[in-house]
Amino acid sequence: MAILEVEDIHTYYGDSYVLQGLSLVLEEGRILGVLGRNGVGKTTLVNSVVGFNPPRRGRILFKGQDITHTPSFATVRLGMGLVPQGRRVFPTLSVEENLKVAQGGNNRQRWTLNGIYELFPRLLERQRQRAKTLSGGEQQMLAIGRGLMTNPDCLIMDEPSEGLAPLIIRDVWDVISKLKREGLSILLVEQNVALALKLVDYVHVISKGTVVHSSGPEELWGNEEVKSRHLGI
Ligand SMILES: Nc1ncnc2c1ncn2[C@@H]1O[C@H](COP(=O)(O)OP(=O)(O)O)[C@@H](O)[C@H]1O
Ligand SMILES: [Mg+2]
Repeated sequence: MAILEVEDIHTYYGDSYVLQGLSLVLEEGRILGVLGRNGVGKTTLVNSVVGFNPPRRGRILFKGQDITHTPSFATVRLGMGLVPQGRRVFPTLSVEENLKVAQGGNNRQRWTLNGIYELFPRLLERQRQRAKTLSGGEQQMLAIGRGLMTNPDCLIMDEPSEGLAPLIIRDVWDVISKLKREGLSILLVEQNVALALKLVDYVHVISKGTVVHSSGPEELWGNEEVKSRHLGI
């Protein structure tokens, strides 16, 4: 069953026409990858889905409900979690305070502080530290933890590997796999193709605000034309 359906959306920033008819379907319990070069509209897609920048045309359904014009706080209550690009943790709050501010978005009980600390033991070691003193990798863990604290059924992650050291990426990728095994549905937006393909069940490549290729991960890896033309590899 589909948990998230994006139907032919057209999204603008003022006069600037960014998403030019983009559609995708995320099946429940799967990881759908969205790949594309810098500036093709990946974050704009995320902003449209979570309600920061609704499309002018098209429709977005979450668990069958039309959320095209639902404000983001209400979308979070319905079970949509976000791990934004660039982490966006609150720099002067402690690790624990960052997690607590995300609590209580809805009535689900899946995630608690202890659960997050079990998933990311480093965050427990640093629970009283201000978020700005964490490494990039630790901030990414905190951003994921904060996204989980809203108890989502669907988690959108915008470039979680950006700027992280390979060893940390391994830890973060292990956690994402674990979340998938638990049944979480994930929209994984990435620029790092090789890393994304390790996790995803299915993948869309976007260019100029629309989907230009859709396939399983192996098929994309073998498609030199799409890789060189749309992904720069
Ligand atoms: N807040 C904004 N105002 C105006 N234009 C924007 C804004 N954010 C992004 N854009 C433009 O929209 C296009 C898509 O950007 P974005 O969705 O951030 O790309 P990606 O996440 O794929 O790198 C780019 O041309 C970018 O310059
Ligand atoms: Mg982006």
